[in-house]
Amino acid sequence: MLKISYIKTDNLKENCITDKSRPQFSFALESDNEDVTLTKAHLSVNGWNTVTEEQIGIIYQGDKLNPFTTYHVNLVAEDNHSQKVEAETTFATGRMGTAWQAQWITDGTYKFTQKKCSPEPMVFKKELVLTKPVRSARVVSTALGIYEIHINGKKIGNDYFTPGFTSYHHQMQYQIYDITHHLHGNDILTATVCGGWAVGKFTHALRNRIFAKRQAFLSEIRVEYQDGSTTVIGTDDTWQVTRQGVVKEADFYDGEVVDARVDLSQSPWINASIEKVPFHPNFYVTYGEPVRAHEEFQPVATSTLEDGTLIYDFGQNFAGVIKAKFAHCAKGQKIVFKHAEILMDGKLFTKPLRTAKAELTYICNDKKQQEYSPSFTFMGFRYVSVTGIKAEDLTLTALALYSDLKETGTFHCSNALINQLQSNIVWSSKSNFVDIPTDCPQRDERMGWTGDIALFSSTASFNFDTSRFYDKWLRDLRTDQKRTGGIPVTIPHVVFPTNYESIFVMAIDHWGDSCILVPWAEYMARGNIDVLLTNYETMKKYLKACKFWAQLFSIGKRRRIWSLGHHYGDWCAPNLGLWAWMGRGKWTATACFANSCRLMVKIANELGYEEDALYYNKLYQEISSAYVDVFTDGNGKLKKEFQTAYVLPIVYEVFRGKTKAKAAENLAKLVRENNYNIATGFPGTPSILFALCDNDRVEDAYKMLLTESCPSWLYQVKAGATTLWERWDALRPDGGSNTGADDGTKGMVSFNHYANGAVGNFFYKRIAGIEPLRGGYKEFQIKPVLGGGITQASATFECPYGVIKSGWQIDDDGFSIDVEVPVGTHCHLVMPDGEEKALHSGKFSFNQKI
Ligand code: BGC
Repeated sequence: MLKISYIKTDNLKENCITDKSRPQFSFALESDNEDVTLTKAHLSVNGWNTVTEEQIGIIYQGDKLNPFTTYHVNLVAEDNHSQKVEAETTFATGRMGTAWQAQWITDGTYKFTQKKCSPEPMVFKKELVLTKPVRSARVVSTALGIYEIHINGKKIGNDYFTPGFTSYHHQMQYQIYDITHHLHGNDILTATVCGGWAVGKFTHALRNRIFAKRQAFLSEIRVEYQDGSTTVIGTDDTWQVTRQGVVKEADFYDGEVVDARVDLSQSPWINASIEKVPFHPNFYVTYGEPVRAHEEFQPVATSTLEDGTLIYDFGQNFAGVIKAKFAHCAKGQKIVFKHAEILMDGKLFTKPLRTAKAELTYICNDKKQQEYSPSFTFMGFRYVSVTGIKAEDLTLTALALYSDLKETGTFHCSNALINQLQSNIVWSSKSNFVDIPTDCPQRDERMGWTGDIALFSSTASFNFDTSRFYDKWLRDLRTDQKRTGGIPVTIPHVVFPTNYESIFVMAIDHWGDSCILVPWAEYMARGNIDVLLTNYETMKKYLKACKFWAQLFSIGKRRRIWSLGHHYGDWCAPNLGLWAWMGRGKWTATACFANSCRLMVKIANELGYEEDALYYNKLYQEISSAYVDVFTDGNGKLKKEFQTAYVLPIVYEVFRGKTKAKAAENLAKLVRENNYNIATGFPGTPSILFALCDNDRVEDAYKMLLTESCPSWLYQVKAGATTLWERWDALRPDGGSNTGADDGTKGMVSFNHYANGAVGNFFYKRIAGIEPLRGGYKEFQIKPVLGGGITQASATFECPYGVIKSGWQIDDDGFSIDVEVPVGTHCHLVMPDGEEKALHSGKFSFNQKI
């Protein structure tokens, strides 16, 4: 029987609210028959009908959609077995560009001029007096700062850190919450607005007021009465504001101070002032993935220090907040929580946090039982210390907070350490997908570093449906790109204070290449051509900048060697420091430049831009031959050898034929001489196992993966890591921590950085063998590469057509594999002995003697 598994609107299975004039639809099918493909689908929305053979990227082409309206989508699908099914879904529109019937409001008396701190939280208030029976009511809001709305003291919605972090000058998200059932006729709405990213202290330079001089709030309460009439109550100067609310301090790095004694009805309220916001962003209803609470952790161990401090271990490093219940409280009792990723000598080791205090202070009111969980901050932690309360009066759990991405992949194999590594990769993703892709969740940084996600995006796209998350971030990347084509190192762009309109942002290898690597990863995972199309001009402009920097002051072949400018090079390669990493920039940059041109050939071909494809192919060939001529002896040996300098040209197809084979041999030699310990930084790490494995060095690849001494992936696992580390030796074999005190980084170490987790690609693509041959897995291969003594592996991946499965094992009878191929896709299965099978949809099992 044919079944429609789901219909997605703008990549959401349900509750989609969109501001797109042309929303996109996709759907997946299931069937218990084999060899099923869609022959025809009929989709109708708002009087628009289309007949298609596609299941993804179906763009609405009908009449103009009205704002704040619910639309019904009807889908009839027919397969090649003449089975017909029908399904429906709905989506709603947001403002669709409608002007706000509201004004930005603020506390006009607040002159916030202090440096390196966050502003005092503001609370706005409106009494809602509705005299007629209400049919529906919605609150439509955004803020400069981060906000949370309460009606009669009850929180509305379950999102954190709204409106989310965007390049506020260009675009802002707003939220729509249905409040119909919260209204009783005479209600009090309050909105607490803290500094967040726009006004609060942010960036490693501890800047504040990056986007606005103080917080501001913009909101409409849109009411429809039962008699059909409507009203909009917008923010204006009849709203009231106070800075003496319950939340006294709120800062992403430092934490919160909350005084539960505050009775808002007694706070000094004044009328809000209209705020002149000096920029005019486009407003869109949430189009990324809102940050929400997910897993709730119970402590796995507790201890008490000599001075009475309580220590809680949640067993997992993650980004989130504590959730505390207190008993026998006394009014004015002050309870303080501190956070850290690791313990040293039984105490919290907070050095890696740098200036981030990561502290919460809760002051009790006179109720005996109280509860507290922060709303306006988050921490990266596993351990919490508590003072000011007895252990028996405290029930402490912790909530993981991250963007609401759906998990799309699973991987498991017979090696328990690899399974833990897979879990660490997933947890480093969750911890760093907090509205934007961040570098780390704990220290005074947590910024959208472009290089980290560029290198990790493909692995992340296996484990999560990254479509909306990347889409939101890429919109900021496009608008923050500089006129010269350079991409700022963090997106949204917040690094250089005076630089907002500057043209002097250079192209930087791998970091800037995020504009190509991230869309490409997303396209391969989900096959929506739109992500290539939308970002295409940005990519072109960026590559023009790369070419400019590469050839500046150079002649001959060297015009294609990119050495000039600022590069992070082999960032975080072990046993080296900042200058040595950066000193490798000309190798990483030249290889990366070639790779981006190589990908542009593919992208231009996908989009049908033949001339561009020819142009980038020529450039790619020129850069490749320059790399060979300038950096090697012409026979696959680098004049200056290091792992990354081999890995990148091998995997990026800069080396080909005999040169590549020789280079792989030389890489394997280097790896062996280094006792299979990894020596790559961020750029080389994602690819080193592929460089070995795909070039007849399978054993070497597995040996490196399974190495347990420092530095290696499994060294971290054996040392007890539950997330990936920024430095291979963040925790040294002698038990100390490499805090980077003396290597030029001014103390840079994090226990939760996903970049080195890009090895996860190898698990799916080589161990389980699942790899797309066309964007979105319309065609894919399953080609497990056996090795490393692994006797069983299984992976699932929910591609846009349905769930792909590869599960194999080796036992006395030989090799056997179970495979699932979704409706509408083709799978090329390659057995370990090289035998190939062409599979259409269905479930299959095969075995083979080995
Ligand atoms: C971040 C990195 C980032 C790097 C760039 C660091 O401080 O944590 O992950 O990519 O700076 O140099």
